[in-house]
Amino acid sequence: MFRYATLNNIAEVGLERLGDNFVKTDNLDEAEGILVRSAKMHDMQFSDNLLAVARAGAGVNNIPLDALAQRGVVVFNTPGANANGVKELAIAGMLLASRDIVEGIDWVRSNWNNPDIVSDVEKQKKQFAGTEIQDKKLGIIGLGAIGVKVANAAVYMGMDVYGYDPYVGVDSAWHLSRKVTHVTDINEIYRNCDIITIHVPAMESTKGYINKEAIDLFKPGVIVINMARDVLVDEKAMIAAIDDGKVRRYVSDFPNPIVAGHRGCITTPHLGASTEESETNCAIMAADELKDYLENGNIIHSVNYPSMDVGICRHAGRVGVFHRNIANMITQFTTVLGDDGINISEMSNKSKGDVAYTVIDVDSPVPADVIGKLTAIDGVFRARKIK
Ligand SMILES: NC(=O)c1ccc[n+]([C@@H]2O[C@H](COP(=O)([O-])OP(=O)(O)OC[C@H]3O[C@@H](n4cnc5c(N)ncnc54)[C@H](O)[C@@H]3O)[C@@H](O)[C@H]2O)c1
Repeated sequence: MFRYATLNNIAEVGLERLGDNFVKTDNLDEAEGILVRSAKMHDMQFSDNLLAVARAGAGVNNIPLDALAQRGVVVFNTPGANANGVKELAIAGMLLASRDIVEGIDWVRSNWNNPDIVSDVEKQKKQFAGTEIQDKKLGIIGLGAIGVKVANAAVYMGMDVYGYDPYVGVDSAWHLSRKVTHVTDINEIYRNCDIITIHVPAMESTKGYINKEAIDLFKPGVIVINMARDVLVDEKAMIAAIDDGKVRRYVSDFPNPIVAGHRGCITTPHLGASTEESETNCAIMAADELKDYLENGNIIHSVNYPSMDVGICRHAGRVGVFHRNIANMITQFTTVLGDDGINISEMSNKSKGDVAYTVIDVDSPVPADVIGKLTAIDGVFRARKIK
């Protein structure tokens, strides 16, 4: 029986998937698994009972990944589970920005008690006229889970779509419509596109991605959509370009003092993944990852340990060892097992940066003192008896 705790509301439909082998606890110290959304975990103290943290969502900057890796605690996230929600908001952003829908609605609201509203509409509506997105050039920066969905939806809406992603994954490439033009020079997007949307992660290397030099290359009247993170755009330069008339509208899901309320900016309060469906998908994926890891030792979608899928254990025992990615570790594990007369049936080892994970299936039950001997090896963070 495993004990788990939740640090935020996690959709019940996800928790139900954990099944009878799991019981919820409010005592974090006894939890082997934690499910979390946005709660900040950097200042938390963790007990040695903790084996895994599953984040229902993609971003993991609320979780101390390296510190947990050094304790042999696996952190999971749910890539792509909210991609459709963000895609739909990005498409909505393009439509809102192209048609002046927001200011049109504001005008109607401010005229709610105008007795001449019906005739005034016909006089006033020309100030809210816009353009259509069909046949416009859309540039997409980042063709991951969200970027690919935006690209394909835009193709269906009759847009001429250009995609840039030097690190595009096989899965994304496989799902991308063949009508999307693959761009290898980002400046082509900056120079030619009518609408530009960015879907890359916020990292040191992507901060200020769309900067003044990029904006200088834009066509006049461009619309920029940012559903990824505000730090990806030099927003002061963006505001200056809006004020100059170079950028028609900047749509962002991240209100801050620079953009909130500025004319030409349309900001939503971080609504990208705020849909019932996204929250459900994330909770289901996070629960499935946690269950598979705690019950079988499999690691799918971890951000601090390598992937490892060795299925269900069909042997007498299974041990998982988290350790430094250095020479001579495996020999020491096999020696400990061999000295105890335990025969190894199968073994898998994977590494990710400085850390590694080894799963060993054996032909006889593993005594507790063998786990103790494995844990005592220099460079081992944790040894765990899985079966
Ligand atoms: N608004 C919201 O509520 C919300 C919700 C979910 C995700 N997001 C944001 O959207 C981002 C993208 O999400 P995703 O699920 O598509 O992530 P993803 O990891 O599936 O895709 C990111 C893509 O960016 C590409 N990339 C990385 N560096 C790049 C670079 N320098 N130039 C071009 N492409 C680059 C990667 O190769 C990858 O294909 C997330 O990192 C997150 O910040 C926002």
